[in-house]
Amino acid sequence: FNIHTETVSESCPSNIALIKYWGKYENQIPANPSISYTLNHCKTNTSMEFLADESFSVQTFLAGNEEVKFAEKIEKYFKNIEQYLPWILKGKYIIRTENTFPHSSGIASSASGFGAIAKCLMKLDELFSEKVSEEESLRKASFLARLGSGSACRSLYNGLVVWGVSDEVEGSSDLFAVKYPDSEIHEVFKNFNDWVLLIHEGQKSVSSTVGHGLMNTNPYAERRFQEARENFVPMKEILKGGHMEHFIKLVEHEALTLHAMMMMSDPAFILMKTGTMEVINTIWEFRRQTGLPLFFTLDAGANVHVLFPKDASEEKIKIFIEKELLQYTQNNGVVKDVMQF
Ligand code: PMV
Repeated sequence: FNIHTETVSESCPSNIALIKYWGKYENQIPANPSISYTLNHCKTNTSMEFLADESFSVQTFLAGNEEVKFAEKIEKYFKNIEQYLPWILKGKYIIRTENTFPHSSGIASSASGFGAIAKCLMKLDELFSEKVSEEESLRKASFLARLGSGSACRSLYNGLVVWGVSDEVEGSSDLFAVKYPDSEIHEVFKNFNDWVLLIHEGQKSVSSTVGHGLMNTNPYAERRFQEARENFVPMKEILKGGHMEHFIKLVEHEALTLHAMMMMSDPAFILMKTGTMEVINTIWEFRRQTGLPLFFTLDAGANVHVLFPKDASEEKIKIFIEKELLQYTQNNGVVKDVMQF
């Protein structure tokens, strides 16, 4: 090396899946394709200091210099990806990381977190290896992020992003995510709000790693993987044509299916809380009464992502959320995000 110490910084947003990834094979190969929206405000900012050295070690800090316990996880991850970044174990790392969303809010930080780490690694790689095109570098960052946390590979691109082979999406792959073409997306889906209602702060009772694993013995798993693949057919048509009603139906169905799979696992588990159910029912009632496009999706937790387009109806919807839905959150917790296009 001619470089002894180097610090790189990167930022990466979180994402929320519309067609869900739940279930995987060896080496982080997804059992079905998924598609997500990349968020704008929910981000992880990471700086990575690298010191060339004979011995390999990792130290991790949160902003504010609090040392945090994920160094071991990162060490394991770095060892795992050495075959793709041959220099990676030849030094010491100090990683500082900060999330723009509240700590312990239950918003998954693994997607933005591993996204940011993968981007930092690719920046270092540029110093140590031959330069590649920006496109290739992003693709490799997505590939590396996937090996940290599957859904993280979708956070490397903005707009709608697909991970996993789908006959409906050209160039899609199980190994990295690809951007869903903007030209195939109707304008109504390019300006969207995602307000994350924080129903339950703190640790989930079952991690997503365990949850994915339980799909291996779930009797409904094969049917579910097939359904997710099939759902790309209507999704493609909906996105192109701007069919809001069908979009709402499909996205909510996907969210509920994810949680139904958890309930049908052995052992069964439930990540929704009372507040989650209250929010869902209140949203449905609001739609029945007003016909306005307010709907929800869920990730592997109790929080509710409340989705609605930025259009003439949005002020009325915002007032409704503040008045009727915030009461089901912990401490009025809400993160008001928008999709990044
Ligand atoms: O990336 P993981 O292993 O944390 O899995 C996340 C899975 C879901 O968030 C529930 C769905 C998805 O596609 O993001």
